[in-house]
Amino acid sequence: MTAPLLTVLGGERLDPPPVWLMRQAGRYLPEYRELRAEKGGFLALVYDSAAAAEITLQPLRRFGLDAAILFSDILIVPYAMGMDLSFGVGEGPRLAPPLADGGWEALTPAPERLAPIYETVRRVAAELDPDTALIGFAGSPWTVATYMVAGQGSKDQGEARRLAYRDPHAFQALIDRIVAVTVDYLAGQIDAGAQTVQLFDSWAGSLAPAEFERWVIAPTAAIVGRLMVRHPGVPIIGFPKGAGAKLAAYAAETGIDAVGLDETVDPGWADAMLPLGMPVQGNIDPLALWAGGDALRVSVARVRAAFDERPHVLNLGHGILQDTPIAHVEELLAMVRGEAA
Ligand code: CP3
Repeated sequence: MTAPLLTVLGGERLDPPPVWLMRQAGRYLPEYRELRAEKGGFLALVYDSAAAAEITLQPLRRFGLDAAILFSDILIVPYAMGMDLSFGVGEGPRLAPPLADGGWEALTPAPERLAPIYETVRRVAAELDPDTALIGFAGSPWTVATYMVAGQGSKDQGEARRLAYRDPHAFQALIDRIVAVTVDYLAGQIDAGAQTVQLFDSWAGSLAPAEFERWVIAPTAAIVGRLMVRHPGVPIIGFPKGAGAKLAAYAAETGIDAVGLDETVDPGWADAMLPLGMPVQGNIDPLALWAGGDALRVSVARVRAAFDERPHVLNLGHGILQDTPIAHVEELLAMVRGEAA
C-alpha cells in the first residue's frame, strides 16, 4: 500500500487528510525529555543514530501519525561544511566562526558529519509500516545562511540581509555552496530511505520581493532541479514561512511539488491563488493546538473547508509549542479522523 501522505503529495485528495506535525518529536513529550537528559544534550541525541531513530518514532507510537520526520536539525549542513555547532541550554544554536563576510572557503569540509544522519534514516525506514511515510528535510539556503552569517539566530536576519546587499557576490558564493551540500545531503537521505523531503525556509518572510526572488526562489529552484535529476518522483515540500503574498511566485517558480503554509496565511486566499491541484500542507495555528477545544475545532474546520477540493496534508503552521498538552494532539487526531473527541 502507498502511504496516504505520499498519495496526497502525488496530487490525489484523501478524506480525511493525512496528518503530521512539524516538530512532532521534541520537548513536549516526556519520553523525549528523558532520553535527552540521559544522552546529555540535543547534538548528542542527533549523533546517536539509535537514540535519534527512537525519538523519530516516539510520536508515532503515541499518536499513530501518518508520517515520521527524521530527527535532526537544519544546522547539520553548516556543521558538515566545517563550522562548529553547539546548542547551549536555553540559548539556542551557535555556529562558529560567524561568516560575517560570507567567506566559507577557509572552512575544512566535514562530510563525515552527515553519515550518522543517514544511519538514523536507515534505522527508521526499517521500522516503519508501509502506510507511514518517512520525511527527510533540510533548511533552505537562505535560512541556513542567516545562521551561518550571524553565528546564531536573530530577530530580523539583519546581518545576512546586509551582507547580501553589501557583497552580493560573496553571499551568492555562500548560497551556491549551501545548495551543493544540501542537494547531496537530501539525496543521501533519500538513498537511505526518505520518501519525501521538506525544505524549511523559516526566515523567508524577512526579504524584500527582489531579494526573495534571488535568495529564496532561485536557490530553492536549483535544489529542486538537481534533486529531480538524481531522484525523479520523490516529492519535495517547500515551506516558505512568512512569505505571504510572495507564496504565489514561490509555488509557481520553484518547481516544488507541495507547499507548506504558515498559520498567518488565509487558507481560502491560498486555495484561490495557488496552482490548481497543487497539494498544500498546513496550517493550524500552533496556539490553537495549545488551546485545544473549540479554538482547535474551529481552526481545523476552517482549514479543511478551504481545502475541500485540493490535495491537503493537515499540519500546523509552524512547530508544535513546548507546552502543548499531549491530550490536545490526541484531540486533533480524533477531530480529523472523525472519532469522538
Ligand atoms: O520536526 C521535527 O520533529 C524534526 C526535527 C527538527 C528539529 N529542528 C529538531 C530540533 C526539525 C525539522 C528542525 C528544523 C529547524 N531547526 C528549523 C526550521 C523549522 C523552524 O522551526 O523554523 C530551524 C530554524 C532550526 C534551528 C534550531 N534548532 C533552533 C533555532 C533551535 C533552538 C530553538 C528550540 O526550539 O530549541 C533548534 C533546536 C532543536 N531542533 C530542538 C529540536 C527538537 C530543541 C532541542 C532541545 O532543546 O531538545
